[in-house]
Amino acid sequence: MASEGPRPLVAGNWKMNGSVAMLKEPRLLAAMLKDVKLKADVMVCPPAVILRRVKSVLKGSKIKMGGQDCHWNPAGAHTGDVSAEMLKESGCTAVIAGHSERRTNHAETDEMVMKKARGAHRAGLTAIICIGETLEERKSGKTLEVVSRQLKGSVPEESTAAKTVIAYEPVWAIGTGLTPTTPEVAEVHAHIRAELAGIMGAEGKGTRILYGGSVKPSNAVELMSQPNVNGALVGGASLKAADFLGIIKVYT
Ligand code: 13P
Repeated sequence: MASEGPRPLVAGNWKMNGSVAMLKEPRLLAAMLKDVKLKADVMVCPPAVILRRVKSVLKGSKIKMGGQDCHWNPAGAHTGDVSAEMLKESGCTAVIAGHSERRTNHAETDEMVMKKARGAHRAGLTAIICIGETLEERKSGKTLEVVSRQLKGSVPEESTAAKTVIAYEPVWAIGTGLTPTTPEVAEVHAHIRAELAGIMGAEGKGTRILYGGSVKPSNAVELMSQPNVNGALVGGASLKAADFLGIIKVYT
């Protein structure tokens, strides 16, 4: 496994999945990881309504918890939204910002994503900023251009490596079972690394760049061993402790 660079992160994005019945999965995962020496941070990002319950299940474990989205304001008249401060108070150490499903389903723009990242930083959370091209953009050779535009528009220049994670998630690879080839992953991640230097300066070097999109136990080793891949943002395969563990094992 790529041993150089920042300590990797394997984060599970549960999306709109999760229930009290599902609390057995993080409980199981915590038990399975109890005596495992990890070379990566592990995190789960459940829906906001069960954060506190998940937090109590994870008490005393190595597993961290993140939110899936936040409003950029700390409080106010924003029906249905949660703030980064609320996530922090619920036990989160991070929040995902600008997931492609938010960008598509809620018309989130780069500008909004940057405001959310700043909100996360203000509350003391790590911002996991998502970027990635659509299939059409990939086919028309625009991947690097799109990624550059999203990075410049979404990553605050004052970001630090400690509080910022980039997740490269090609939209066409999410939930489809499709993944880019490993040279394609390496190309985009190298490009992101170079762009981060321009945006964040020296902090860009230590910033974790995750790959996301159909990561599963069977392809995790290959994807995670690419240069500049510092972990994974996992959707479907993070819902079952055994599958998620199969990915986390890459870093044991
Ligand atoms: P899948 O792993 O289900 O493809 O989802 C990836 C993702 O969107 C994680 O944020």
